[in-house]
Amino acid sequence: MTQRQPTRRLVLSRSAAAIGAASTGLLLPEIVRAQSNKVRVGFMLPYTGTFAQLGVAIENGFRLALNEQGGKLGGREVEFFKVDDESEPSKGIENANKLVQRDKVDVLVGTVHSGVQMGIQRVARESGVINLIPNAGVHAATRQLCAPNVFRTSFSNSQPTRALGQPMMQRKLNKAVWITWKYAAGDEAFEGFKESYTAAGGTIIKELNLPFPNVEFQALLTEIAALKPDAVACFFAGGGAAKFIRDYAAAGLKGRIPLWGSGFLTEGVLEAAGPAAEGVMTTLHYSDSLNTPRNNKFRLDYAKTFKMQPDVYAVQGYDSGLLLIQGANAVKGDIANKPALIKAMEGATIDSPRGKWTMSPSHNPIQDMYLRVVENKENKVLGVAAKALADSGAGCRMG
Ligand code: PHB
Repeated sequence: MTQRQPTRRLVLSRSAAAIGAASTGLLLPEIVRAQSNKVRVGFMLPYTGTFAQLGVAIENGFRLALNEQGGKLGGREVEFFKVDDESEPSKGIENANKLVQRDKVDVLVGTVHSGVQMGIQRVARESGVINLIPNAGVHAATRQLCAPNVFRTSFSNSQPTRALGQPMMQRKLNKAVWITWKYAAGDEAFEGFKESYTAAGGTIIKELNLPFPNVEFQALLTEIAALKPDAVACFFAGGGAAKFIRDYAAAGLKGRIPLWGSGFLTEGVLEAAGPAAEGVMTTLHYSDSLNTPRNNKFRLDYAKTFKMQPDVYAVQGYDSGLLLIQGANAVKGDIANKPALIKAMEGATIDSPRGKWTMSPSHNPIQDMYLRVVENKENKVLGVAAKALADSGAGCRMG
């Protein structure tokens, strides 16, 4: 009569304990590893919205790097998981947890949007999961919120724009208007522009912005025409960038007021922007026309595999793959050996299509910035605008 059956409450609390243990990484990883010897890689990227094509390029680039290893990481097969983050910051934590808690990924590759990255950053710091950032430039990720398990293979938001000031002032563009989307990436890109342009003697006569991902540029373009600056500098990317370039020309500003920007403005959009993009000047850590064996081979392989041209996002995804490959090879596939994996990735030199680069102590690339101009639907390199540029890493304390 008094035979002891586990009560419903006990069962519930046991499974709650299991979930709790799983969330701290204590129990389930062993079970998962026993079930499958595959390395679990999760993509958390935008597959819809204004940054959709950026997400696709990053995933393609990452897969290309792995294909070159026979699809393996440190000798182990790889299983992929995917979440569309929609570039929606309010869902950042929830989406990251789909990969970390539900899918139990070993490595989270993401993301593009700086606001969404803040959610990933929190989950990565709490769970200890390896996070490779293949784009989002938000300063905090490699400054005050840096973490041993988080590595960025792209740039910090102020890096590309810190190369803009000098070439603009060399061309006597003394007065500029700045325009961008109002969110972390736009604000931090402005920091880099302001610092370099004012240090070179330039004056910023107006800062204009609109909410992300709004593309109603008309009123702001009318204002620019009235202000008559020597140049306009900006941060836009993806579908919004293509529309900005077209609207700038349609408003009659092209040819009258030179358009400059961080190079995302002209990445992956040259078909869509058409002739309006010709002559746009930018600075970035990559250029289509870098005539090196490394870049030429990458471009050919990418085009053959995916039937489209690579851009900076493809390169950043590819480099995330190269970084993880170096780490995984160093630990012979034992991704769970995080101290050794992290040490190998910290010491890696990435032989990138953009040129070789290394990791700063706060896990952000130290890299050259190129000056580029759009010519015949290509980002043509004019020279190096800033050599071995590192982010400050201000406030980063590892460990
Ligand atoms: C960002 O939100 O950090 C971001 C997005 C797109 C870019 C660059 C930066 O091209």
